[in-house]
Amino acid sequence: MSETTAKVADVPIVGRLVVIGLGLIGGSFAKGLRELNLCREVVGFDLDARSRELAVELGVVDRCADTLEEACAGAEVIQLAVPILAMEKLLAQLAQLELGDAVLTDVGSAKGNVVRCASTVFGSMPQRFVPGHPIAGSEQSGVTSAQSKLFRRHKVILTPLENTDPAALALVHRLWAALGADVEHMEVRHHDEVLAATSHLPHLLAFGLVDSLAKRHENLEIFRYAAGGFRDFTRIAGSDPVMWHDIFLANREAVLHTLDDFRSDLDALRAAVDEGDGRKLLGVFTRAKAAREHFSKILARRAYVDVMHSNDLIFLANPGGSLAGRLRVPGDKSISHRSIMLGSLAEGTTEVEGFLEGEDALATIQAFRDMGVVIEGPHQGRVTVHGVGLHGLKPPPGPIYLGNSGTSMRLLSGLLAAQPFDTTLTGDASLSKRPMNRVAKPLREMGAVIETATDGRPPLTIRGGQQLVGMHYDMPMASAQVKSCLLLAGLYASGQTSVTEPAPTRDHTERMLRGFGYPVKVDGSTATVECGHKLTATHIEVPADISSAAFFMVAASISPDSDVLLEHVGINPTRTGVIDILKLMGADITLENQREVGGEPVADIRVRAAGLKGIDIPEQLVPLAIDEFPVLFIAAACAEGRTTLRGAEELRVKESDRIQVMADGLQTLGIQAEPTPDGIVIEGGAMGGGEVWAHGDHRIAMSFSVAALRASAPIRIHDCANVATSFPNFLALAERAGMRVHSEGGS
Ligand code: S3P
Repeated sequence: MSETTAKVADVPIVGRLVVIGLGLIGGSFAKGLRELNLCREVVGFDLDARSRELAVELGVVDRCADTLEEACAGAEVIQLAVPILAMEKLLAQLAQLELGDAVLTDVGSAKGNVVRCASTVFGSMPQRFVPGHPIAGSEQSGVTSAQSKLFRRHKVILTPLENTDPAALALVHRLWAALGADVEHMEVRHHDEVLAATSHLPHLLAFGLVDSLAKRHENLEIFRYAAGGFRDFTRIAGSDPVMWHDIFLANREAVLHTLDDFRSDLDALRAAVDEGDGRKLLGVFTRAKAAREHFSKILARRAYVDVMHSNDLIFLANPGGSLAGRLRVPGDKSISHRSIMLGSLAEGTTEVEGFLEGEDALATIQAFRDMGVVIEGPHQGRVTVHGVGLHGLKPPPGPIYLGNSGTSMRLLSGLLAAQPFDTTLTGDASLSKRPMNRVAKPLREMGAVIETATDGRPPLTIRGGQQLVGMHYDMPMASAQVKSCLLLAGLYASGQTSVTEPAPTRDHTERMLRGFGYPVKVDGSTATVECGHKLTATHIEVPADISSAAFFMVAASISPDSDVLLEHVGINPTRTGVIDILKLMGADITLENQREVGGEPVADIRVRAAGLKGIDIPEQLVPLAIDEFPVLFIAAACAEGRTTLRGAEELRVKESDRIQVMADGLQTLGIQAEPTPDGIVIEGGAMGGGEVWAHGDHRIAMSFSVAALRASAPIRIHDCANVATSFPNFLALAERAGMRVHSEGGS
């Protein structure tokens, strides 16, 4: 929203504004600017005498002129708000008048024809004509419906041409922004295509469907039983027929184009129904549902940005509290990603339970949907993946967007390197800074063709059609993502592909491949696959994520009188470093009810408050606790004495530089925390409150929420929106457990 919105100007910025056509849109434009005092005079003109009278009576304009010539005399800005097919005649009349330096602009829903008409009647497109289109309207019409706030938080698209006078463009932009509109600039042709698809086609379908049903002889019967679906889908068939007939005639070309595309999609749906092709139907419906939810989120976020003027989600963590009860944290992120990847490449239908419905894992689902895999859900942690086999993926329609998820990007690059089609992988600002050469380099050695941005950063463009060759790779860093990437590439590479790791890293890929019936040889620190086998669909139960449980392990340990039971947590030995480190610090943690579920060990973890002491963290535990260090640093800050971490330079290339960002935050809270190139030294001590920054890193945001349990004053944590990537219900669960953290503005 512009800062000038709804603020009455001290001095008008326009002399005389003339609005031609005093309907809903023209009237609202005139009225809004008049109320803001942005024009010295607002003059109206309409062919209908009653509309002219009403416009003056209702305060829409200062006065109305009786002729077009009289209206335009001395005008500084002329807004053309007549129906789109009347525009040609109006422009021809204007071309005969002396308009001086007046800026012309319009509100037509199709721009190509306005520009064509203006160019014809004026000889060429006038430099001071700024074509525009406010995307705002309602089923109401006429000057009596004019509202000064109609355009607030609505998009207005201006479509300047190459020769458009920048000063004229700036002025029109400013007027719309003053009315509270969200103004964007676009090319004429692009505008017409976008509007044909998003507005004109749906209207055509709604009008068409209602008419088609209404003219059948059994129509009364149909309408009597027409319930929500019919009502929702056809609401817009109540719009003004004359206006819409104008729009279709004006935007003929773009509408035909989008209609033809839609017709062929509709034919494909018809064929699917005819042939009883359930998978095809399910594919279209699940993709559409996911896309609809995605759009709703984008729209909701826009509203949020409008209201809050920024997208900074702030957590306010109040001091004190202790934890109690049984808690089940969401599903394991690493296993959730892999369940979709392997389920998609398997033959048959894989059922997943306990799936993490966080943004990262959802990005993986979307990626495979983009490549033609039918995936139902997630619904309360259940996902059904209709596998397409190792060679069944289809080229995605465009770049694959992976949000914040490094795991998605690194693992996908391995299996995409071997597909017959090209792909581009992109991500958000944080992911776009993360190093990808660690996967690109060994994949190239296997024969992959991969382009990266500068310094091996995303986006990655992966060229299809390469025959990969198996190889042995000695990983320079302990990374499960690199290992998994190469093993996935190895499913397609000739011969054997083996990876040796310098220290144990999570082995979910190896375990799950076996769960899908694909042989994996593990010999000490080397894992090997060879091509030529297949994946067979299976049932996967995702345990709760130990990385999410870690926040509550530390929280319960540091807050007096706490006693919690964390249910059904994955305790794969490549992930339990956090338990070992906390125990070395003196934590009271016991594993109960240990069992194995779908190839992964699981336990209920009981944690009671304990006095912690500082330690030298054994380096061999670093890869086994790699995601838990932010919250372990909070444990160290609450421990007696010094904690030292070494050999953890990987922390600098996670979702944020976790060494620096945690050191900065801890220092703000009064804790001595000295970053080193590969670790940190933290002196336990009294912790105050203050403002800290999560830098969009989910685990930093949650770690400082835990810190508040022992702080003497509130901690305000900025930039927390990405908590939704791994732990969407964190605040609710934290509150239930006894923590005092909530989103600012929330309860
Ligand atoms: C992951 C591996 C780890 C971890 C990440 C998830 C995985 O990354 O930090 O959150 O699922 O394979 P690295 O392999 O880069 O250490």
